[in-house]
Order: sequence, then structure tokens, then C-alpha cells
Amino acid sequence: MTFIVTDACIRCKYTDCVNVCPTDAFREGPNFLAIDPDDCIDCAVCVPECPVEAIYAEEDVPRDQRDFIPLNAELAKQWKPITKSKPALPDAEEWAHVHDKRSELKR
Ligand code: SF4
Ligand code: F3S
Repeated sequence: MTFIVTDACIRCKYTDCVNVCPTDAFREGPNFLAIDPDDCIDCAVCVPECPVEAIYAEEDVPRDQRDFIPLNAELAKQWKPITKSKPALPDAEEWAHVHDKRSELKR
């Protein structure tokens, strides 16, 4: 099992989640974070840190976002670790209320 970053993170990237991860499992892309399933120990402490509730346990990922499970694994292998939070993306507040942002995802 692992935890999964889902659609809500896209174009927000608040990064509060990375500060609490005991295994530095987060990987950073241009406008989204992914969790490396090989490093995640399922501790769940990142879940309440995300202001837009983007993080789910793999088994709890909503049906319409199951594609984010393989996507996290794929992107985590391409991106570098992020271990300290940084300012959210400039338009984060605006994008926080938008649903289905997949087409906005930058790799
Ligand atoms: Fe890190 Fe725990 Fe979140 Fe996994 S569940 S990404 S180990 S904080
Ligand atoms: Fe993304 Fe939420 Fe972390 S918006 S960067 S999963 S705090």
C-alpha cells in the first residue's frame, strides 16, 4: 500500500505535506507532487496537512481518480525529492476550487 496525490494538487502545490513525511517520499514536478510508492510507509501524517485534501490512502482513492495511482508511481521515478515546503504556486487559491485539472499537469 501507499498514499497517493490526486487531482486537487495540480496547479496548487501547497507543499505543506512534505515537511511531515518521515521517509522523504514526495517528488516534485512543475505543478504537482507525487509520492514514491517505494518510500511511502503508509503513516498517513501527510493527509491532514494538505489544504485541498489531495492525498488519499491507495485503497481510498475516489473511483474517478484511480488513474493517479499508476501516475504517482510513474512520475515519482522521473522527479526529484522535495523535503521542505516552499510557497504555493502563484494562482493556487484560484485553482484550489477547480476540478479535473489533469490537462493542466506538467511533467
Ligand atoms: Fe510520507 Fe507517510 Fe505521507 Fe507516505 S503516508 S507520503 S510516508 S507522510
Ligand atoms: Fe499538493 Fe497538498 Fe502537498 S496541494 S503539494 S498534496 S499539501
